[in-house]
Amino acid sequence: MSTGNLDFEQFRVFLEKACGILLGENKQYLVSSRLNKLMEQQGIKSLGELVQRIQTQPRSGLREQVVDAMTTNETLWFRDTYPFEVLKNKVLPEQIKANPGQRLRIWSAACSSGQEPYSISMAIDEFERSNIGQLKMGAQIVATDLSGSMLANCKTGEYDSLAIARGLSQERLQRYFDPKGAGRWAIKAPIRSRVEFRAFNLLDSYASLGKFDIVFCRNVLIYFSAQVKKDILMRIHGTLKPGGYLFLGASEALNGLPDHYQMVQCSPGIIYQAK
Ligand SMILES: C[S@@+](CC[C@H](N)C(=O)[O-])C[C@H]1O[C@@H](n2cnc3c(N)ncnc32)[C@H](O)[C@@H]1O
Repeated sequence: MSTGNLDFEQFRVFLEKACGILLGENKQYLVSSRLNKLMEQQGIKSLGELVQRIQTQPRSGLREQVVDAMTTNETLWFRDTYPFEVLKNKVLPEQIKANPGQRLRIWSAACSSGQEPYSISMAIDEFERSNIGQLKMGAQIVATDLSGSMLANCKTGEYDSLAIARGLSQERLQRYFDPKGAGRWAIKAPIRSRVEFRAFNLLDSYASLGKFDIVFCRNVLIYFSAQVKKDILMRIHGTLKPGGYLFLGASEALNGLPDHYQMVQCSPGIIYQAK
């Protein structure tokens, strides 16, 4: 594949506009490794030609395939542990108290292959077991991602032993999954049915999402420019009820929005409360 500077620049502009992902200037190798196969299959020789093909054939599905290939889908169960402990011990009790008689709504805003929303659903089940009758109206989890292939994985609710080994205790595996044979496991219906999966680009309008009590937007903003990140954080604020909570990734911080969010130190971990 030819990755001339002009071609690469054109591709960088295309990708940021399509999904917010900002490629560093020296990321030619990353682009080649992720797109080589697709471009070979399509007989496309350069990134410039690829961008042109996407623009002239908008219905070909090529745009979606390219964006899909360029996203990083790394995830695991109960990632970083503390968000799910803070959810059970602080955020759920507070939100139940603040919203009596209402079903809690939680958004997993870049859900990858489903480990995050299903971990939230398991954490809710654990909360209900030790706080019987408190979550009377239940909880709904809306899980969204840009990637069609990831969402297809999520919806099956099935995982292989490699995925299962990443962050899931034996106890949770036995309680929340059914063996399917050949090293595969299926998440049980009560955990699965709490989660609704939807295709959604974080750059698009949030109007159809409604309001949430809790938002998980973890390990995705790191790929965006400071301006796009700020814009998304302001729009997420618009989806949160006052007093609702935002969980970011362990290495992500929220700077410069003091009118929108208050930082809450949870030892371990930091979360943000909507003003
Ligand atoms: C590294 S994964 C994070 C998964 C999960 N939140 C976690 O922390 O384990 C990042 C996800 O963000 C998604 N993504 C990237 N750009 C996006 C966008 N503009 N809109 C929605 N999802 C996006 C990718 O498809 C990918 O599944």
